[in-house]
Amino acid sequence: MAAPVVLVVLAALLALATSRLWSYAVVRLAWRPRAMARRFREQGVHGPSYRFLTGSNEDVRRMKAEADGVELDLRDHDYLPRIVPHLVKWKHQYGSPYVYWFGPQPRICIFDYELVKQVLANKYGHFIKNDTHPTILAMIGKGLVLVDGSDWVRHRRVVNPAFAMDKLKMMTGTMVSCAECLIKKWEDQATYSKSREIEVEFSKESQELTADVISCTAFGSSFMEGKEVFHAQKQLQAITVATMLNVQIPGFKYLPTKQNRCKWMLENKLKNTLSRIIQCRVASKESGFGNDLLGVMLEACFTKEQGGKKGEQILSVDEIIDECKTFFFAGHETTSHLLTWTMFLLSVYPEWQERLREEVLRECGKGNPNADMLSKLKEMTMVLLETLRLYSPALFIQRKPITDMVLGEIKIPKGHAIIMPSPIMHREKKIWGEDADQFNPSRFQNGVTRAAKVPYALLAFSIGPRACIGQNFAMLEAKSVLAMILQKFSFTLVPEYKHAPVNCVTLQPKFGLPVVLKLLEVRNWII
Ligand code: HEM
Repeated sequence: MAAPVVLVVLAALLALATSRLWSYAVVRLAWRPRAMARRFREQGVHGPSYRFLTGSNEDVRRMKAEADGVELDLRDHDYLPRIVPHLVKWKHQYGSPYVYWFGPQPRICIFDYELVKQVLANKYGHFIKNDTHPTILAMIGKGLVLVDGSDWVRHRRVVNPAFAMDKLKMMTGTMVSCAECLIKKWEDQATYSKSREIEVEFSKESQELTADVISCTAFGSSFMEGKEVFHAQKQLQAITVATMLNVQIPGFKYLPTKQNRCKWMLENKLKNTLSRIIQCRVASKESGFGNDLLGVMLEACFTKEQGGKKGEQILSVDEIIDECKTFFFAGHETTSHLLTWTMFLLSVYPEWQERLREEVLRECGKGNPNADMLSKLKEMTMVLLETLRLYSPALFIQRKPITDMVLGEIKIPKGHAIIMPSPIMHREKKIWGEDADQFNPSRFQNGVTRAAKVPYALLAFSIGPRACIGQNFAMLEAKSVLAMILQKFSFTLVPEYKHAPVNCVTLQPKFGLPVVLKLLEVRNWII
C-alpha cells in the first residue's frame, strides 16, 4: 500500500519540477524575451538579438575585454569606448532608445533629456529602483538608496534633518580636521625630503580620508572603528565587479559556493561591526543620542511617537543597520573619486590649478577654511561641476515602472528596466555645445542650470525627489580638502601615469592616481 503512495508523491513532485523548469527555461528564458523583443521592434525600438539565458552579457564581456587594453591620452576625456563599449556601439547602430539584454531581462537605454526628466522627476512616483545585484545589496544594504514607495518617504523623513545646511556647516570643521591630519603627514614627509616633494597614490589616500570623514561626521566614530566597515565593503565591491555580468539564476545565491561563502562572511562582519557601533552609542548616551546621522536615526528608532502613529517605530534596528551600510558606502566612495578626478584634471590643466590656488588664497588665506569661506570659491565650484560632468563617479541611473507606462511614444511594460547612462548624456553636443568632450569649467560660470541647453542637464547627483541627499556634503568635503591641498602644495602626475578609467561600481582610475606633491613653502622651523 505504501509503495504506490510514494510513487504518486514522487510523480507529483516530478510533474511540479518539470512544470517549474518548463516555465523557467521555456517561458522566462526563451519565449518571453523573444516576444518582448518583437513588441519593441514593432514600436521602432531595436537592439542586439536576444541569446538564450545570457542575453547580451557575453557580447558585453567580449567588447569590454577588447577595450580594456586601450589607454587614453591625458587630455582625452572620452573614455566611454573603454568602459561601456557596448552602449556606445549600440547607440550608433540602433539609435535612441534601444534595447539590449541583461541575461533574460531587457534593458531599455534612453538618452533623451525630456524622457529622463519624466522618469526621474515628473512621473517619479510611477517608477522604482531596478533589481539590485545581490552583492551590491549586501554591501550597501536596503537603505535610502534602494528603498521605494512609503518606506522611502519614511526613511527620507528621518534622515533629511541630518543634512540641513546648518548641520553641514558644523560638519565642515570635522572635514577640515580629518584633512588636516593627512596634509600634515604629507607636509612632514615632503619637508624631510631633499626635493621638498613626495609621491602619493592619491586615489587610495582620498578613499581613506573620505571614509574617515563619513565615520566622524555621520557616526561619531573614528576611521579606526569604521575601518572594518570600509574593508568589508571594499571586498564586497571587488566581488560585485568580478560577478557583475553573471546571469542571476534563481536560488543560486543560496548555494555554498566559494564566492557566496565569502559574501556571507563579509555580510556578517559588516552587521556585527555596525551593531557594535550602534550599541556603543546607545550605551553611552544618557541625554539624547547626539545630532549626527546615527543620533538622528536612533532618536527615530527609540522615540516611538514622532510623526507616525502612536507606538509605531519609525525605523527598526535592522533598518538602521542597513542605513549605516548605505551611508558608510555612499558617503565616501563617490566623494573620494570626485576628489581623485579633480586632482587628475588640475594636474593636466595647471592653469586651472593656479587659478584655484589664487582663489583659495584670496578667500581663505593660508589658514584652515570654514564653510563661509568655502561658499565663496566660485571657480572651484565650476571645476568640481565640470569634473562631475566628465568623470561622474556614479555611471548609470536605473528605474523600472510599477505599471505599464508610455514614455514619449514607447510603451514600456511594468517591471522593464530603464537605463539612463549619464556619462553619455553629459557628452551630447546638441545639449552641451561643440566642446562637450573638452574640459571647460567656464561653462558653469553662470551656475549649473545655465551651463547647457536644458537646466537639468547635469545628472551626476541625479534629479527629482530622489536626487542625492549628500550632494552638499560631498561638495563641501571636496572643497575643504582641495582648498587645503592647494594652500600647501602644487602637484603633477607622475610620468608613468596611465590614463585608463574603469567601472568598478563607481568610475575609478584603473592604476590609481600617483601624483607628485611639491611643498609651496618650507616651514620656518626646519630652516
Ligand atoms: C560626488 C559625490 C556623490 C555623487 C556623484 C553621488 C551620486 C548620487 C546619485 C546619482 C544618486 C541617485 C541614484 C539614483 O537615483 O538611482 C545618489 C543618491 C544618494 N546619495 Fe549620493 N552621491 C554623492 C555623494 C553622496 C554622499 C556624500 C552621501 C552621504 C553622505 C550620499 C548619499 C546618497 C543617498 C542616501 C542617496 C539616495 C537618496 C534617495 O533616494 O533619497 N551621496 N547619489
